Amino acid sequence: MVYLNGNFIAKKNASISVMDRGFLFGDGVYEVIPTYQGKLFRLSAHLKRLQNSLDAIKIPNPYTNSEWQKILNQLLGYSQSENQSLYLQITRGVGTQRKHSFDTLTPTVYIELNPLVTKTKHALEKGFSVITQADIRWSQCDIKATSLLANVLYSQNAKDNQVEEIILHRNNVVTEGATSNVFMIKAGTLFTHPTGKYILSGITRDLVLESALACKLPIDESAFTVDALLNADEVWISSSTREIMPITQIDKQVINQGEVGRYWACVYHHYQQLKND
Ligand code: PDD
Repeated sequence: MVYLNGNFIAKKNASISVMDRGFLFGDGVYEVIPTYQGKLFRLSAHLKRLQNSLDAIKIPNPYTNSEWQKILNQLLGYSQSENQSLYLQITRGVGTQRKHSFDTLTPTVYIELNPLVTKTKHALEKGFSVITQADIRWSQCDIKATSLLANVLYSQNAKDNQVEEIILHRNNVVTEGATSNVFMIKAGTLFTHPTGKYILSGITRDLVLESALACKLPIDESAFTVDALLNADEVWISSSTREIMPITQIDKQVINQGEVGRYWACVYHHYQQLKND
């Protein structure tokens, strides 16, 4: 079952016009919201970021927060599985002709659910490999836009190289992952790129910082170089679907002797507790 423009319908019956600007231009925004035991996790933070993305590209929000909550919970009601990743997309709508500029249109709203299968602690403790690549994206990465061509190519490169993720750098400064935020620990301090135009402000990023405070880990939201990353004591990536993953190899260079670090273990543990709140 999916939601499309006011209707709950079978996915195979869901279709949109070829004149939808999401199809023609990638003219839309999206959110990915995890649900645990049937409950939407950090919904208000996701709806706030959705509002920011919509405002940034001048699409009116079709629903109030309570309407969103009702629709999302209604869709969840159709699902059997416990943990889900909810994908929500709003495009500018259907125009009459293909032109780059736009008139006021009725936004298209599409929502689907996918099973959220998070890795066990045991599996995570093996650590993951990543590679680095230059960040060629535009400088409005804070908008969660559906036009994701650069990210698509990065993710394909990760797949081709059999690594978990691509870590991006702009002028040698680490920004974020192709689909995640990036953290490093050096000398007992947690570093991550500050929010702004060059990264997506991850909801999980905020939860990592919240968990770090609980672990009495000092936080420095300052950018760091690729070289600093390669010499870090611990490296993690985070996202709503990955949660917090420890990285033990970058560009074939081993981090922390290939061991998952103790700070990761504490922050991971705290994050699991937040999920039960
Ligand atoms: N991606 N940065 C980028 C570029 C991302 O695409 C994502 C998430 C994040 C982490 O954001 P959050 O913690 O709110 O999930 C950071 C989602 C999961 C996706 O595109 O499917």
